[in-house]
Amino acid sequence: MEFTLEMQQLFDLKPKACFQSYTSKVPGKLFVAGEYAILEAGNPAILFAVNQYLSCSVSLSMHYRQGTLCSNLPQLETVRYEREHMIFPESWQYVVAAMHVVEEVIQHMQRPIQDYHIHLSTDLISEQGEKYGLGSSGAVTVATIQALLRFYGLEPKSPLTVYKLAAIALVSIHTTGSLADIATNCFGGWVYYCSPSRKWLSQQLQNGVNISSLLVSDWPYLVIEPLTPVQDLSVLIGWTQSPVSTDSMIRTLHQQNITDSTIYQRFVQESAGVVLQMKRCFESRDILGIQAALADSRHLLLNLSEAFGLTIETPELRQLIAAAQAHQFEAKSSGAGGGDCGIALGSTRQPTQALLEEWHHIGIQPLNLGIAPSQSSH
Ligand code: PMV
Ligand code: MG
Repeated sequence: MEFTLEMQQLFDLKPKACFQSYTSKVPGKLFVAGEYAILEAGNPAILFAVNQYLSCSVSLSMHYRQGTLCSNLPQLETVRYEREHMIFPESWQYVVAAMHVVEEVIQHMQRPIQDYHIHLSTDLISEQGEKYGLGSSGAVTVATIQALLRFYGLEPKSPLTVYKLAAIALVSIHTTGSLADIATNCFGGWVYYCSPSRKWLSQQLQNGVNISSLLVSDWPYLVIEPLTPVQDLSVLIGWTQSPVSTDSMIRTLHQQNITDSTIYQRFVQESAGVVLQMKRCFESRDILGIQAALADSRHLLLNLSEAFGLTIETPELRQLIAAAQAHQFEAKSSGAGGGDCGIALGSTRQPTQALLEEWHHIGIQPLNLGIAPSQSSH
């Protein structure tokens, strides 16, 4: 029963077995600064959520102990499940991990487990089905958790609870990411994020610590702080039209035993300094300062690339940046780089038409996206 009391701190609880159909909508994300270094516990990054969404609908199945998973994502083909043989293709692993985490909570609360149809629908890919790099696996996990919680009658009081459940789901399937993407999916807006210790979290799970204790406890190093948007800051996003796998970029870097390298350690430290500087400039609404920190972050990533033979800034991204700089914007790759998107920051007083045309001319597709609203906790 103690468990239920803890849950009441975290969720508004609807009556048992209401099983309403529910659709959650989760924004995509882009990194502004702090990439790669954010993989180290306690290190910071700044990201924003984009107003392009991934949705998850959950509805009650009419079939006893059976349900379906389907989507409009190219790699996620429809599967039927039966509770007796819960075997799924690996491509559904994020959804399945999300189902397990939510159902562990439901079981602890002694509420009945139900069967359902899950339907995922994404706008985070191009019409040809190519990813933009706005995040998919994290958004899938968060959207599934949000929709299932509501389906089971649990309304989270804070986006932090959804972040923690998604982090538990992702760490339990041994993903390698910093979990900064899911923080942004959950909080929306602009986010300052410090990585928790994923090692600590995975040890907690291995030691059988229950989810309710993890949901109510403080996590070592974790900070998620919404940043107040800077009104006159103009954000442009250009897509290189070449999708890249974040995992393979991280593998290329971490295959090299970098943690003992002084170059890497200096990179991690300097990245923290630049991100903190950018955060301060957000607080003082200093657009030129934000641009300077963006340029510093770019140079740290260039040095990292050079030291470890990793192409973060491809020729297309370099052209995107050069064009932006020629129009008084500052720009860099976003996220793992190697393709996907670049971002350019400037002032809303600067005209953008000529820059967007130039991007178009050099094969960079401007994405007409804005910042998704922040989800304030209540
Ligand atoms: O390319 P993206 O947007 O998935 O960003 C990856 C950023 C890394 O720091 C390289 C990895 C991570 O999980 O934070
Ligand atoms: Mg990427």
